[in-house]
Formats: sequence, structure tokens, C-alpha cells
Amino acid sequence: MKYNNYILALLIFLFASNIFAGLPESRQRYLMDFNWKFNLGDINSAESMSFDDSAWRTLNLPHDWSIEGQFSKDAPAGGNGGYLPTGIGWYRKHLEISKDDLSKIIWIEFDGVYMNSDVWINGHHLGLHPYGYTSFYYKLTPYLKEGENIIAVRVDNSLQPNSRWYTGSGIYRNVWLVKLTPLHIAHWGTYITTPKVSKESAVLNIKTEIDNNYKSSKQGILRSVLINDMGEKVAENEIHFSLKAEKSIKLNQELKVRSPSLWSVNSPSLYKLRQTILEGKNISDELATIVGIRKIKFDVNKGFLLNGEHIKLNGVCLHHDGGCVGAAVPIGIWKYRLKKLKDMGCNAIRTSHNPPDPEFLDLCDEMGFLVMDESFDEWEIGKREYGYHIYFDKWGKSDLISMLHRDRNHPSIVIWSVGNEVPDQKTEKGAKTLKMLSDICHKEDPTRPVTMGCDNIAADGGATTLAFLNGLDIVGYNYVDRWHERRELYYSIDRHDHPNWKMIGTESESYNGGIRGYYSLGKDSSSIDPDYNFRMIDAEQLWKFVRLHDYVIGDFMWTGVDYLGESFWPLKNWSFGVLDLCGFRKDGYYFYQSQWTGKPMLHLLPHWNWSGREGQIIPVLCNTNCNEVELFLNGKSYGTKRIEFPRQGHSGAWNKYAKPEVHPTTADLHLEWDVPYEPGTLKAVGKIDGKVVCTEEVHTAGEPEKIILSADRDTINSNRDVSIVKVEIVDTNGNVVPTANNLVHFAIEGEGKIIGVDNGNPLDHNSFKILEREAFNGLCMAIVQASGEAGKIKLIANSEGLGKTTIEINVKKGYPILMVP
Ligand code: GAL
Repeated sequence: MKYNNYILALLIFLFASNIFAGLPESRQRYLMDFNWKFNLGDINSAESMSFDDSAWRTLNLPHDWSIEGQFSKDAPAGGNGGYLPTGIGWYRKHLEISKDDLSKIIWIEFDGVYMNSDVWINGHHLGLHPYGYTSFYYKLTPYLKEGENIIAVRVDNSLQPNSRWYTGSGIYRNVWLVKLTPLHIAHWGTYITTPKVSKESAVLNIKTEIDNNYKSSKQGILRSVLINDMGEKVAENEIHFSLKAEKSIKLNQELKVRSPSLWSVNSPSLYKLRQTILEGKNISDELATIVGIRKIKFDVNKGFLLNGEHIKLNGVCLHHDGGCVGAAVPIGIWKYRLKKLKDMGCNAIRTSHNPPDPEFLDLCDEMGFLVMDESFDEWEIGKREYGYHIYFDKWGKSDLISMLHRDRNHPSIVIWSVGNEVPDQKTEKGAKTLKMLSDICHKEDPTRPVTMGCDNIAADGGATTLAFLNGLDIVGYNYVDRWHERRELYYSIDRHDHPNWKMIGTESESYNGGIRGYYSLGKDSSSIDPDYNFRMIDAEQLWKFVRLHDYVIGDFMWTGVDYLGESFWPLKNWSFGVLDLCGFRKDGYYFYQSQWTGKPMLHLLPHWNWSGREGQIIPVLCNTNCNEVELFLNGKSYGTKRIEFPRQGHSGAWNKYAKPEVHPTTADLHLEWDVPYEPGTLKAVGKIDGKVVCTEEVHTAGEPEKIILSADRDTINSNRDVSIVKVEIVDTNGNVVPTANNLVHFAIEGEGKIIGVDNGNPLDHNSFKILEREAFNGLCMAIVQASGEAGKIKLIANSEGLGKTTIEINVKKGYPILMVP
């Protein structure tokens, strides 16, 4: 069952239990994203109740003002922030509170604000929260009044640079309003673990903290019910408690589940824990938490075991931006990106280098990704002038605890990472800081190990101290191929010297990274994109090692998707991902697919439009999981070549078909032919066990003729769901023209709007928010978002000489959400 269905079921449950039982309303969680007032720039006294905000812009959250701005070489965040503006902004929300609500406990929850947010209610300062990636909440109760209340938020992202990558600015994640009775489960008060798991049975341990905000003592029952994906009750436990006035209590419960459906990467079964607090017959609180029953083990020899089975973590690192939407990423964009990564065979994600949006983790639970949840990029020693190091002393502990408490129920999370390449790893004090942080992790969640992305080779020549490495549960290697003089020895030397270390590749170079569809060769190659036919060798060598050594838990390649920032003008983004900023596949994608999946595939590169180079040699490369591939150009064979390596998904198949006396075999993990260019059709025929299992053709494309539109989903729901519409510029035969850069104008009709346009070109400095984009190497895209009503969306793309093309997307009514108007 999908997570959305759980929400729907929960809402129906809450609705039914309150209305039909005629009982006082218990917990209600409202989405509070709508109708905020916004002002870009600092302003005096904007927190005050009497402040007139009528001239401010009205908008809905999540909101990122940086992405709305223009790229400028002089932006204070520089290349770190992708040359987009930062600064200070104010938000105000007018909130109606009824007389009834005054007897309730009311919280406001912020999933993420970048950064330095000050929050006021009715002029009363609730707090300052510097870190832009941890979620936080405030109790509004004592300051609320009947009628209109004013929430004011000042967001200060003006101290620059404060990050090494694009952060976004503003309230860029959801905001929630929670109404409770005074006897309720504490904030992030439920902690579920699965201490015993087998196919036959499982034990769930549930620790629940309950707050009594009444001025009198209370007696109650905590009922915890586990529901399967059919909506059936599979286990239940009740515990009685008594609680003094204004006190909290921690309760412990166990649930036994027979024949559990285990959560795994291929079958991410989820349950729901429904908890109820009963005061006599009255329901005082209700809370639903998603649960996955799974067993994880990290073994010094065998690597990672999920439910007793060995799994290599085939991982990617991901930053939090969504390309043209900046940091305010509708979850549908992550669905689209993660689906592609899943199809590549990726099963693990490192949330580099900060806690992600909680919705992102829900998606990882639902889709079956293993997650390394990471807290920081800086501790005490900084990397950027105003980076997190200026807050670490005061906030480091509480930010880490916030991440652990919020995230520890997610079955997808299997490792905590307390940092990335922090320079503290080289100092004596660093090992103590690490101990402090990993002690917190162990205390708050004893079920998962702690790692950090260490980079042993540092610019100043210093190295990670042994005390530091010994202090990690799992030693995290960033760029393991740079650790030892003999690069190809990877983990071996350390394995010899430290046989008790568990080892994981927290970060490594991606395969054939570079700009999508851009092939530099010989005299054209540049520093930004070296020759396309040799830049993959390091990644192949590393993968061979990781694949063949179980003790290496896995590897997280940098990166799954291109991200904004960490760039040098005129480049505005980092482009070594396997998907570009639009989520379009680059060639490197197919290498991982060839190694990580079993369904027969092959991919040829480069394109075959090399007018002017007739007769010259063009290296043709192929990534495949077939055993042998024959290449033809215009019907002429250039020979059959073989790869001999145990790809995943071909269990036990390696070397089975090897007949080196018949065909030349390569030690590389790709195939390559030197082909003198002539226009026409390249064709590759892939065989397994002598049988043809797949073919691919690449045609020389003619002139751009028309536009083809395709949507990643042609039906979306009305709750701000999105569809990513791909624009292809094709010739008369429908071949994408790989060099096309036609300007495409977009228009939209019906129940939606365009929230961003892009083409994946790191050199394009046009705003993501205007309704036109040049195609880049044949492609561009527009993201459409439903505006709330069911109906249809019509997206029209138009380009001079190519005519007009239209696509329709259906919008169906979404599940009901409780919303603050
Ligand atoms: C790593 C770092 C990443 C990113 C990457 C770029 O050292 O951890 O955040 O900067 O380099 O190559």
C-alpha cells in the first residue's frame, strides 16, 4: 500500500473516531503551507501584530526565494550557491484560532527553513533555529488568542558563504500545525525498533513518551495496534499508566508478529503502528507511525546483511535541491528521480551532507532504498567563512538529536553519518568530538552503526588520525582510491593493518560523469569535459574491487543527480551525476545499470552526428550486461566483443559463457570499437548464451522537424502533485537531434501551472522560472504542478519552425488533507 493510502486511511480513521464516537477531538495535524505573506529583504518590526503586511506578496510554501532570482557572477554565495541570490526574507501567516482551540495544546512544526530562522507568535519570540536542515517545532499554546493570530518568521541567509553547495533560502519545506489535547504523545515521542526478526516471527519494541500538560494527574491507557497493508490488525498491546500533573512518562511495549512481511529493497513491505491514548472512554490522542520490519547486520567479513541476506550497497550521494525548483522540491520530483535510480539498480542513498526532507525518507521507505542519513559537513573547523562551524558548539548536539529523533523509525535508514570530510578528523580533538557525536547516536538509537565520510588525503598533507578512524563503527572512505600511494589497492592495505575495521565507500567518483550529450574528443576536449572514452576507467577499477570483496559494504558514487552550486563561473552546477539537473539520463547511468541489474540491456555512445568528420575514427562505446555484443555500421560488422565479469543479477553466470578463443575479451567493463565515421545507423546486437537478447540502434539525425512531448506521469493528483514533461526535438523520422538547441516556448491551460523549466545545461544562465527554454543537446523540460482542483492540464510547447505540440495530463482528486486556510 502506498504511503498516501496510509495517510488517507489515517485521516478516515481520525475522522470516524471523532465524529461517530461523539468524543472530543484528539490530535489533528494540519498542513500550514497556504496563504503566507512574504517580503524579500529585512524590515523593522515585521514581527509585531500591528504590522501592515497587505502590500506583501501572497504565496504558498514550500518556498525558496533564491531559485526565483537571477544568476549573477557577483552573487555573495558565489559558485557555492550556484551564483543565485541569498539575503534576508520575512514571512507572515494570519492564523484564525477558535475559542475551543484555546483549551488545546498547539504546536507549529517546521520541516526545514534555510536558515537562521526567528519565529514569533503575536509578537512573542519563540526561538531562533540556525541550521537549515533540521526540523524543529514550537509550542504556540500560551501565546494564542481567540480570533486572528500572527506568526512571523524572519529567515536570514545573508551571511555568505555558508555552504559549499546550493542551499536555497526560505521556508523551503512543509509547515504543520498540530492540535492536541493536553494528554498526548510527546513530539517525536514514539521510537520503534525490531529487535527480533525472522521469516516466522518478529518482535517490535515500542518506546513511547507521553506528556501530561494538565494541571492535575491523569490515568490512561496507551494502546498500540499494528496494522498490515490490508488494513488488518496483526498485533496489539495495551498498557495502563498514571501521570502526575505537568509530567512526562516513558512507556515500553512489545508486539509479536507472526509470519511478518519483511521490509527489503525488492519488497519494501510497510505496516502502520496506530497508537491511541485513552482516558476512560475518551480518546485523548492518536498517532500513526509507518513501520518496516527488517533485520540489519554489518559484518567485518561479509559486509551488509538485510534479513540475513548479503546485499552490496549500490549507492549514490544526493544533495537536497531539485534542479529548477531549487530547495522547495515537490515530492513528485524525487519520485521521478528515485524511480530512475532504482531502474539503474541503485539501492542506497547517502543524504549528503545533511538531514533530508522527511517526505524524502518516507519515499525511501516506500520504494526500498537503504539510506545513510548524514548530519553535518562541518564541525568545529570550518570550510566556508559562515559555515556550520560557527553554530556547532552551541547547536551540534541538539541538531544531531533532532535528526535522530525525527528519523529513527524509518526502516530505510541503516547507517548514521555524523559528518563529511570534516577537517576535525585530522586533529586530536576531532576524535573526542567524534566520540561525543557517536555516543549520542548510540544512546538515541543503539540499532544502527555510525560512520563518517573521511578523506584521508588532505590538501594540507594532514591525515585522518588513527584515533578518529578507530572511533567509527564503520570506517567511511571518501575517494578510497586516493588513500594509498598504490591507488588500486583501495581497502586492502587497511584491511591488512586493521582487520577489525568495517569499511564502506562513503563517496567515490562517478562513471563517465560530465555534461549530458556533450562528447569531447581529441582536439575538442576541455578541462570541464575530458575525452569521453577514457574518463570511466577509475570508476570501473573501483567497482571491480568493491564487487569482488564482500567486506566492502558498498559504495556511494558522487552523485546520483547533478546539483546546483559547487561550481565555477560560467558553470552554475556540478555536473558529474548520472542524471542531469532535469533528471535526464547521461551515459554513465548505463554503466551502473549494466553492473547492477540483470534484465538484458545495452547502451551505445556517442551520438552519430559527426558531420565534417567523415572517415575519421570515432570510438564507439557500449555498456551492457550481455556477455557479447556485435557492432554494425550501415550493415557492416565491426566484430563481436565480450565482457567477462560477474554482473549482479546474473547469479553464478560469470565466465560460464567465456570462450576467449572465439572472441576477444576485455578486462574493462565496457566495450569499445574504433569506427570510421559515415552517416547512417550504428546497430549493436547483444547476446547472452548465444541468444540475441537486446539490440540498440543509433541513427544520424536530420534537421529538427518537430517537438515530441512526454510526461513522466499522465495522471497526477490535485494535491500539488507534479508531472515532468520531457521535450524532444526530433527529425522527420522521430530521431532526437543530438545537437538541437531550438528555443521552446511553453503555455499552460487548465488546473495546473509551470513551476520550472530547464535543459540540464550548466552554462545556461536563464531563469528557471520563465516560460521558455532552449533545448540542450536535443532536450529540455517543463515541470507542471496541479493547483488543487481535479480536471485536466494542457501543456503547449511551441518553437519557430517546429510548430506547436500539446500534451494533456489528467488531474484526479487527491486524498483529503487537513489544511490551515
Ligand atoms: C567531496 C565532497 C563533496 C563534493 C565532492 C566534489 O570531497 O565530500 O561534498 O564536494 O568532493 O568532488
